Amino acid sequence: MPDLVVENLRARLGRVEILRNVSLEAWRSELVAIMGPNGAGKTTFLRVLARIVRKSGGRVELLGKDIYEYSRREYAKLVAYSSLERTPGFRMRVREVLETSLYPLALPRNEVLKRIEWVAKVLDIEHLLDRDLATLSSGEFQRVSLATCIARKPTLLLLDEPVAHLDPKHQLEVLHLVRDLSKELKIVTLMVLHDPKQALDFCDRAMLLRNGATIAHGEVSKVLTEELLSKTFDVKVRIVEVPNLGRLIHVSI
Ligand SMILES: Nc1ncnc2c1ncn2[C@@H]1O[C@H](COP(=O)(O)OP(=O)(O)OP(=O)(O)O)[C@@H](O)[C@H]1O
Ligand SMILES: [Mg+2]
Repeated sequence: MPDLVVENLRARLGRVEILRNVSLEAWRSELVAIMGPNGAGKTTFLRVLARIVRKSGGRVELLGKDIYEYSRREYAKLVAYSSLERTPGFRMRVREVLETSLYPLALPRNEVLKRIEWVAKVLDIEHLLDRDLATLSSGEFQRVSLATCIARKPTLLLLDEPVAHLDPKHQLEVLHLVRDLSKELKIVTLMVLHDPKQALDFCDRAMLLRNGATIAHGEVSKVLTEELLSKTFDVKVRIVEVPNLGRLIHVSI
């Protein structure tokens, strides 16, 4: 049985139905790419899984249990969602931000310090720990945001565009890191990505979303095809195997 099951999920924001029919299956240690055009409902979907937005229909089960059957405290220990935002005028050092993200786990003080040291090293933010969050560049901020999630060693990791704002090297480093940690810590990782090549290269599964409905979900090579990508994004897509370079994807309108 999959560790995460989403079936015919519906959700509304105010009076508007944003998610109409979303389905997905995912397993621990696997990376799932969530892809779709702007406004398709990707962020809303992650927010339903994080229990920030309530579903209005369908089934969402984590480890065989409806996500609302977990207490708030239990769920906070299981799930990490990259929701860090820049609030103008709000001053906090990176180290304090990381400590705050660990509160729900109620860890002993020495374990908190160990986790911060560990996550700062793997995300290359050791030099930023004493900086004010508001002073970071977009890419530095993005890595701190990811660190707040990873430090919690969750069972379900929800990453909304984790490589946005990152330079090419940091994009690849973050993708490698998320893939390795998902395997090592047996995490179900859902990651919103916009680049189909990154999804094909790094993810095990994919889900295509358009107008709040799942177009396809399953094994990445069966979902991220020329035909399904073209249909989802309303563009022309060519996928070409190039010796020594792997798959290259050409997109045109
Ligand atoms: N509070 C709200 N009330 C009504 N509609 C909303 C509200 N919040 C978001 N929406 C709409 O819901 C739709 C889905 O938004 P969502 O942020 O989930 O899309 P997305 O797929 O993450 O897009 P992007 O790629 O641009 O981040 C959009 O059309 C958005 O305008
Ligand atoms: Mg979004």
